[in-house]
Amino acid sequence: MSGANTQYDPVEVSALDPAAIDEVVEAAEAAFAAAGTLDALKDARIAHVGDRSALALANREIGALPPSAKADAGKRVGAARARVGRALAARQAELEAERDARLLVEETVDVTVSGSRRPVGARHPVELTAERIADIFVGLGWEIAEGPELESEWFNFDALNLGPDHPARQMQDTFFVDPPDGGLVLRTHTSPVQVRSLLERELPLYIACPGKVFRTDELDATHTPVFHQVEGLAVDEGLTMAHLRGTLDRFVSELFGEGITTRLRPSYFPFTEPSAELDFRCFVCRGADSSCRTCGGTGWIEWGGCGMVNRNVLTACGVDPDRYTGFAFGMGIERAVMLRNGVADMHDIIEGDVRFSAQFGMEI
Ligand code: PHE
Repeated sequence: MSGANTQYDPVEVSALDPAAIDEVVEAAEAAFAAAGTLDALKDARIAHVGDRSALALANREIGALPPSAKADAGKRVGAARARVGRALAARQAELEAERDARLLVEETVDVTVSGSRRPVGARHPVELTAERIADIFVGLGWEIAEGPELESEWFNFDALNLGPDHPARQMQDTFFVDPPDGGLVLRTHTSPVQVRSLLERELPLYIACPGKVFRTDELDATHTPVFHQVEGLAVDEGLTMAHLRGTLDRFVSELFGEGITTRLRPSYFPFTEPSAELDFRCFVCRGADSSCRTCGGTGWIEWGGCGMVNRNVLTACGVDPDRYTGFAFGMGIERAVMLRNGVADMHDIIEGDVRFSAQFGMEI
């Protein structure tokens, strides 16, 4: 809108009427006072101060007035706008203060409330011991091998010189897997890894295999149907029982204490010939206490089996038994944990209570 319109009659312009302006101001003040939240106040502001509000309209209409009326109307509208602006600012300040006070209460942090602690877990001592054993053999320059827990009967028995009719096949209480003629078992020992390693790897061969094994034993203080063994196998030219003995001596002294030695007693395993039971010197009394509780006063602790790999096993794995000889051993890891750590009951080992595992430290 440009130049003044002389035809224009200010009396008819109700927006500029003093009474109308007062009404507009009061309506705005009432709306601001009624706004209970900052959002509601924003709506009231748009309605009463915004571009389309009555006040804005009145302000725009001043320009169209004859010069004589302009100053007067301008003053009135200006005063009205100032009043409305003050009312808005005051209500805005009030509502902001209310909001801040409410937030302070709602977001209060009670620094005296005790924190929630999330206890850290612990590694199982069987796992730790298996790892320590693996480290010992890696330190001797051996490799670590693994094999499946669900094993074919051929690897678990046949290739280990335990044919279908071999009486010793019944010595190990086996979990057979359905279907019965499927030829699968849960491995009863880690010895099938001997066969797998001989078939897969180059000679000479030095491997240790810690792993889980299964037998149909009832769970009691000293037995569990799922347990762990470590298997060792060395196949090379010229290996003798002296090498076996030296390896075992080193192994037990690393695990149970410097100076702990081994003793071999004649025994029988189909996959070794000759075969022996392995005992080691009691690491508590070292044979000096006939009332020692750890070794029962015998001075020796039984731990596993060992022997020179049977020629038939070497042959089954395609190794020339006239050129190569080998030795093997296998022992239980739970038993080592129970002995080393004075655990009297197998239940503690299998129950998985973190309070038990946590006692063995947080080695990783
Ligand atoms: N596999 C035998 C067992 O579980 C232990 C063993 C391993 C014996 C290697 C001799 C050689 O009883």
